[in-house]
Amino acid sequence: MRHLLSTKDLTRDEAVRILDLAEDMAAVQTREVKKLPALRGRTVVNLFFEDSTRTRISFEAAAKRLSADVINFAAKGSSVSKGESLKDTAQTLAAMGADGVVIRHSASGAPQVLAQSDWIDAGVVNAGDGTHEHPTQALLDAFTMRRRLHGAASRGKALDGVKVVIVGDILHSRVARSNLWLLRTLGAEVTFVAPATLVPVGVGSWPVEVEFDLDAALARIRPDVLMMLRIQSERMNAAFFPSAREYAREWGLDDERLVALGPDSMVMHPGPMNRGLEISAGAADSPQSTVLEQVANGVSIRMAVLYLLLSGEREALS
Ligand code: CP
Repeated sequence: MRHLLSTKDLTRDEAVRILDLAEDMAAVQTREVKKLPALRGRTVVNLFFEDSTRTRISFEAAAKRLSADVINFAAKGSSVSKGESLKDTAQTLAAMGADGVVIRHSASGAPQVLAQSDWIDAGVVNAGDGTHEHPTQALLDAFTMRRRLHGAASRGKALDGVKVVIVGDILHSRVARSNLWLLRTLGAEVTFVAPATLVPVGVGSWPVEVEFDLDAALARIRPDVLMMLRIQSERMNAAFFPSAREYAREWGLDDERLVALGPDSMVMHPGPMNRGLEISAGAADSPQSTVLEQVANGVSIRMAVLYLLLSGEREALS
C-alpha cells in the first residue's frame, strides 16, 4: 500500500509501528532544532476541499519538520469554485511535481478515487472524507491514549482491554469510524453512546456495543477513555437532531458527569468543540482533558505517516 486511506487497512503490527515512529518524531520536537532532513526535495500538497484548522496546520507543520516543500490548496478561492473537477485539479498538482497529497473532501471515498486514478503518481493521505474515515485522527487518538496509559513504557504496546466510550454524533462521524477500526485492531473494547437518531444504520454488524443512555453506560462500563464527538450541524437537517438543550442534558459531558466519571478517566475530543453542547468548559479544560495533547500529538503522527509514505519506506505500511 502506498497510501493511508482507512484505519481498516492497518494490521496491528503496522499500527504499533506507526505509533512507535511517532514517539521518535515526538522526541525530535523536544530538540532545539525541530527538523529532520528526511523529506528534503519532496513536495507535499495539502488539498483541502473542506474547512480545517488542526489537520491542515499539523500536516503542514509535519511536512516542514521533515524538510519537505509544502503547497497549501484550499478549494475556496481556487478554480474549484469555477467548476474545475478533482481530475483536473489532481493533474495540475501532478504537473507541479507533487510527491504526496493530503486530501480532505466532503465526499466519502474521494481520497480512494484519487489514489486509484492515473491522474497523479503520489502517495495519498486521507485527511477526512465525508462521513467515512479520518485515519490520522484515530492514530493520534490512539497515540494519546497509549501515552497517558503506559507513559514512558508505551513503545511496542497496543491498547488491549482498554475501555473506550465514544459519545455523540456517530452518524456523521468519520472520527468514530476510524477510531472503531483502529481501536479494535489494537485490542480495545469500544462502546458507542448516542441518541437513536444519530446512530448509523448497519451499526449492528460492526464490532461495537451501542447504548442510548449515557449515565447508564458510564456507570456500567466505567471507561478508561471517554471520547466526546462534535455535533455536526452542517451535515444534518433539523429533523434528525434532538434540541440542543435536550442533547446537552442527556448526552453532553457536563461538570456533574465529569465528577461521576472520576479522576482517572481520560476525556478526549477531536475538536473543534461546541462548548456547552457536547462538552462543558469545565470538562474541556479539566486535567483529565487531552484536547491539546491530541493536537500536539497530531504533528508527531503526521510526521510518522508522511515519513513512511514518502521517504522510500512505503512498503512499511503495506
Ligand atoms: N479534528 C479535526 O479534524 O479538526 P479540524 O477540522 O480542525 O482539522
